Amino acid sequence: MSIALISKDRDFSKLQECILELDASIKVQKWPRVEDKTSVRMAVCWKIPPHTLQSFPNLQLIQSYGAGVSELFMDSTIPHHVPISRLILPSLAHDMLSYIQWRLKQIEFRGHTYEQQQKSIKWNPLEKVDMSVTPIGILGLGELGAKVATGLAEIGYKVNGWSLRKKDLPGVDCFDKMELNEFLSRVQILVCLLPLTPATEGILNLELFKKLLQPASIINVGRGPHLVDEDLLYAMDIGLISEAYLDVFSTEPLPGHHPFWNRSHIHITPHIASRTRAEDAAKLIVENYKRISSGMEAQFLVDRKVGY
Ligand code: GLV
Repeated sequence: MSIALISKDRDFSKLQECILELDASIKVQKWPRVEDKTSVRMAVCWKIPPHTLQSFPNLQLIQSYGAGVSELFMDSTIPHHVPISRLILPSLAHDMLSYIQWRLKQIEFRGHTYEQQQKSIKWNPLEKVDMSVTPIGILGLGELGAKVATGLAEIGYKVNGWSLRKKDLPGVDCFDKMELNEFLSRVQILVCLLPLTPATEGILNLELFKKLLQPASIINVGRGPHLVDEDLLYAMDIGLISEAYLDVFSTEPLPGHHPFWNRSHIHITPHIASRTRAEDAAKLIVENYKRISSGMEAQFLVDRKVGY
């Protein structure tokens, strides 16, 4: 029995080391050099090429190397009978909260304006943005969204949260599926932390932007296809959105010719808001491997019907 580590864009050497440190008896094979495909019971996947999993006939678990699994769901070549598990790690939620706090601080202190001022050698102190009257909205109150929403509320931000089913979170005004418009009408800084499903694809569009308190800011740390790129550009041109902080993109890496690169009010990071650390992931991977090896169900399985 063995584990295969498969990714087009992450080097899994460290992960392999961390797994072996925890249990040296596990055979860990790093794709594309998987000698013994029939022995593979668990595949750890992050951005895998289509068809890759079809060559493992005895696979019992597909383990996502991230909190999101949409890439796996969207790949129709992934075997349907094999359960998929996602990574739920305290460090992912912690990092996501830090990233959002960083972006909120930039908004509060007008970091962007001062960067522009520096470029034109200008000294012009401005009032800070008053965050006590600048409501934040978290779209998606799952593992990460709920922790970000409560974490921000705890340190004094005014936080609204939206999810399909109503949640009850301390300090957060929660809204459900039917209350999206009411939620949007109370939000000036919108953070997208939704899972990507057919129902949420393209949700960040012009119609939605019009419903926010103006001028709004957008922080997208969900998935690129949540956002309709041309709608964002248009919404910025007509003054509905003042700043956009984007960490995820429909095509990653974001192609060099994409107009986002040259917009001074669009702030880009390369999908780093919450990046899985090998040390943390290895523990969960080894635990899940032990579970499936002894005929038990893996932890954090996703529901293929709902898509997360
Ligand atoms: C990152 O985007 C993840 O899904 O963990």
